[in-house]
Amino acid sequence: MNVYEVKKDYMEKQAAYRRKAFKKQKLRQLFFEFTLNCNEHCWHCGSRCGDVHPVNEMTADEWKAVLDHVKENFGEKLPQINVTGGEPLLYPHFEEVMSYAHALGFKWGMTSNAILITKDVAEMLKRCGMGTISVSIDGLRDTHDRLRGLTGAYDRAMAGIQNLIDLKFARHIMITTVVNHETIQELEPLYKIMCDIDIDSWRVIGVEPLGRALQYPEKLMTPDDQKTLMDFIRSKRAEDMPVTYGCSHYLGLDYEMEVRDWYFFCMAGVSIASITSTGDVTACLDIARTPSVIQGNIRERSFADIWNNEFKAFRYDKAEDDTTCKDCKSREFCMGGSCHTWDFEEKKQRLCLLNELNTAMV
Ligand SMILES: C[S@@+](CC[C@H](N)C(=O)[O-])C[C@H]1O[C@@H](n2cnc3c(N)ncnc32)[C@H](O)[C@@H]1O
Ligand code: SF4
Ligand code: SF4
Ligand code: SF4
Repeated sequence: MNVYEVKKDYMEKQAAYRRKAFKKQKLRQLFFEFTLNCNEHCWHCGSRCGDVHPVNEMTADEWKAVLDHVKENFGEKLPQINVTGGEPLLYPHFEEVMSYAHALGFKWGMTSNAILITKDVAEMLKRCGMGTISVSIDGLRDTHDRLRGLTGAYDRAMAGIQNLIDLKFARHIMITTVVNHETIQELEPLYKIMCDIDIDSWRVIGVEPLGRALQYPEKLMTPDDQKTLMDFIRSKRAEDMPVTYGCSHYLGLDYEMEVRDWYFFCMAGVSIASITSTGDVTACLDIARTPSVIQGNIRERSFADIWNNEFKAFRYDKAEDDTTCKDCKSREFCMGGSCHTWDFEEKKQRLCLLNELNTAMV
């Protein structure tokens, strides 16, 4: 078999597995959006942090009750908890909730802009048993500060990463870079910087057309940018560097398994669920919160009830509903694509990355 045939063979098996998973969901990753408060104001923020005014956010007791409930109902194999925001470290009860999660035996990780990770905060994260972290670095020093609306953000984030590295407790420290049409040319100089830091991986993704990023169409990724990004990641991986793309989008036979260690499979609502800062239950926090996306609220119903009885909008082959996807040769491997670019009201895919990669000129 040639490499394409091997890939196809694997993806056919995975498609069969996915169809079974739609009927028999297993919770593996549970995201907690602790707060929508933020200490940066990124141009691209999918959650529009800084423009929204958080009210009625969950208390420490409410999060602890969720943890007790999940332990009781999903105790056979506890899901990993992933804490995010907004900036999760701004949540005033962070330590109380995460030390509680640790005591209950949950493995957990977080995403952070890291500007608050002083030596003391790194010690606190160690005490609470944090296993993994993704820290955002979106460009070279001046670019990062400009894109994130905070002078000094880059230096503080880099110091935060070093404070974590020094304590040697995290299983995996990742830096995530979100590139855009203007910053894609910074990939090579950024790569040199990443090689000098003792991190476990560098994840590079293109900005997604979500939230505040939609206000700046000129900065969104063009098809050529998307292809440049894929070729960049593939070439660095060939040099054995731990550079990776994220979980988004079916990429076609040329790039699947070349830019990340797994084949595309959007698990939102199938093995991934999220609870927002006000207790809404949804699949993945990157999905815009339109009415049909919210499956219930844990202040009204238990999480297990919602997980077991709702989520029908996520547990089927979405390609059935979109006329372009329906006739697509890759539909079995893609199944309508990523949920975060799926229009749940119109039942249409807003971004087919495979199509973009196929139309790129570079
Ligand atoms: C919403 S933030 C929350 C955690 C933290 N405040 C941070 O910035 O890392 C989580 C990740 O989503 C990324 N993100 C936000 N908006 C995005 C968009 N429109 N496209 C791609 N990634 C985005 C951020 O850059 C960050 O890496
Ligand atoms: S991407 Fe993160 S740091 Fe930036 S505004 Fe959004 S939540 Fe805040
Ligand atoms: S919705 Fe998007 S970000 Fe969320 S799991 Fe699916 S592909 Fe990944
Ligand atoms: S047309 Fe639809 S099913 Fe085909 S690759 Fe694009 S998003 Fe996926």
